[in-house]
Amino acid sequence: MEKFFIRGGIPLHGTVYISGAKNAAVALVAATILCDEPCTLENVPAISDITKCLDILRSMGAVVRMERDGVIYIDPRSINTTEVPYKQAVTMRASSYFLGTLLGKFHEAFVPMPGGCDLGDRPIDQHLKAFRALGATDKVVRGANYVKADKLIGNQIFFDMVTVGATMNAIFASVRAKGQTIIENAAKEPHIVDVANYLNSMGADIRGAGTDVIKIRGVEYLHGTTYATIPDQIEAGTYMVAAAATKGDVVIANVIPKHLESITVKLRKCGVNVEENDESVRVWVDKPLQNTTVKTQPHPGFPTDMQPQFSTLLTMAYGTSRVTEEIFNNRFRYAAELRKMGADISIEGGKVAIIQGVDHLSGAPVQATDLRAGAALVIAGLAADGMTEIGNIHFIQRGYERIDEKLQKLGADIKRVIVPENDSVEMSG
Ligand code: EPZ
Repeated sequence: MEKFFIRGGIPLHGTVYISGAKNAAVALVAATILCDEPCTLENVPAISDITKCLDILRSMGAVVRMERDGVIYIDPRSINTTEVPYKQAVTMRASSYFLGTLLGKFHEAFVPMPGGCDLGDRPIDQHLKAFRALGATDKVVRGANYVKADKLIGNQIFFDMVTVGATMNAIFASVRAKGQTIIENAAKEPHIVDVANYLNSMGADIRGAGTDVIKIRGVEYLHGTTYATIPDQIEAGTYMVAAAATKGDVVIANVIPKHLESITVKLRKCGVNVEENDESVRVWVDKPLQNTTVKTQPHPGFPTDMQPQFSTLLTMAYGTSRVTEEIFNNRFRYAAELRKMGADISIEGGKVAIIQGVDHLSGAPVQATDLRAGAALVIAGLAADGMTEIGNIHFIQRGYERIDEKLQKLGADIKRVIVPENDSVEMSG
């Protein structure tokens, strides 16, 4: 088992280069199934969720070749089944994208119920609503969703709530359907736009991605393409918060500043300096952190995937802060871990965190409970006095490429240590 050991209290300095976006790349890999020719994806992050998506494609017969760092060649023409294997599918939410892409290409899909971070109830009723609107039927068999359609006909789809995954799957299932599909109340995240741009580069006809109305005209053929994933807005935001929490001075490079606007606004409200340049932002601190309120919202609001990291920053800000989680109903499990480090954070009704700022956190043995909670604990460890030991770092490696190396380059004292099962290396003071 691997753990991170972090000796905190070192202000981060230097430049960190952001990788391709996890939540775009997993969708682009799955979307390649829809193509009639080989494709090449660039700027793909080296993270375990991508590895699992590529393993799923290989297991279904696709040719997958790592050309070089971050560049992947995928030939979907040899896919010989519409059944996704359990092993990888049940470990991540992105496996649900194989429902939409296999249905959209082959009119059939058998995908084990998706897994992913435990953030509370994560149904796929809206995904199924989209598939049914296009003429598919669905049932649950052997712990998997089975969807099938004799033919797919374009239709109007109105989502009951804004959902990234269902918006993606509605695009996947309709891009080769007969006629026009109109998706209303669509998610507007940058990764939705990235997927639409990728499919349009193959010859699809998708308009309005990035707004709440997306219009798709089905096409019969999608040709090969080469496409580079957008930078990861959440990885970038995580390093911005780490720079602020350690009172450092960091340039976060390879970013699209517009994707970071809601994070930048909130950091500035806390008294953090953020300078925006063409493809980078600089974050530095020269005055005490101030409290603020945060409410997570679909894009362009404050992203739920930044809530744990930002709450961690607020544990060290003067005054009382309130963080409201509007997207998921159980995304504060990390609070108990932060309390072990001296944070004063209480959760009301599972949706609101009340945070009283403290002068400093102190290092402790803690456990990551999911991907972004793990990132939050890394930030806490970087800011805390003394040594922090973080277990379950496999969660973190799902979404952050080489996070220990990138932080070491910024001056952090962080080590990835393999420890025997149920053993905890003595925490030196
Ligand atoms: C995607 O999850 C991301 N995952 C999540 O990132 C992210 O937190 C989330 O979008 C919101 O931005 C990937 O892209 C792989 P949703 P997804 O459908 O698609 C409810 C991370 O840390 N809902 O937008 O599952 C749902 O329960 C991960 O990178 C339904 O009720 O999120 C949630 O409360 C964590 N029925 C809300 O909508 C449905 O059919 C938003 O979910 C679908 C969703």
